[in-house]
Amino acid sequence: MWFAGHEFFVDERVLVPRSPLAELILDDFQPWRGDQEFGRVLDIGTGSGCIAIATALAFPQAKIDATDLSPAALEVAAINRRRYSLDDRLRLIEADLFPPQGGHYDLIVSNPPYVPRARMSTLPAEYLAEPPTGLVAGDDGMACVRRIFAQAAEFLSPAGMLIIEVGEIWPEISAAYAHLDLTWLDFRYGGEGVLLITREALERAQDSDGNGD
Ligand SMILES: C[S@@+](CC[C@H](N)C(=O)[O-])C[C@H]1O[C@@H](n2cnc3c(N)ncnc32)[C@H](O)[C@@H]1O
Repeated sequence: MWFAGHEFFVDERVLVPRSPLAELILDDFQPWRGDQEFGRVLDIGTGSGCIAIATALAFPQAKIDATDLSPAALEVAAINRRRYSLDDRLRLIEADLFPPQGGHYDLIVSNPPYVPRARMSTLPAEYLAEPPTGLVAGDDGMACVRRIFAQAAEFLSPAGMLIIEVGEIWPEISAAYAHLDLTWLDFRYGGEGVLLITREALERAQDSDGNGD
């Protein structure tokens, strides 16, 4: 499969790369990045490694960590990491969302599972050939997103930003997190449901309501 102009090996262990985040990577994360350097980047739920690897190729100075709960998916990511000779800059970590060793990242990016359980049976047939752990996220689709919001600030550098794809559940996320200063990104080539929030805005919200939800 092709993603952000690069070819990736995929098989039944991972989802097919199709995130609109490709467009953002090709745009060097502008206008959102401004003149901020991305020294350290975290990709949560890396699957084939497509987002982590395309970001590494766009930012040759950046060190990238990429997590996935699925050891099988990480095997595929390792195949793609080798293909692009990124062994020294891309660390693949088996973890539940955030790396257990901690860290501070200038960018946290994620295309996590976000399909509500009941909606699985309505998906087009091609999705049924993909690992369900890459798609389903509890009854409301928010299981991973909720935890990412709650923990992201402690893993972001002071000027860091969090970008999450939440697909078609974006209206529900927008309503549930109305107290967060979320920016919803527009895409020239299609796709929706990608949000951006800074560490500063996450902390502001946590200070005012006393928790990360
Ligand atoms: C929607 S797929 C995205 C894959 C890839 N980033 C892409 O855009 O094609 C979500 C990925 O998150 C992984 N995942 C699911 N739950 C996770 C968790 N709690 N912690 C880390 N990864 C998780 C799945 O194994 C899957 O590879």
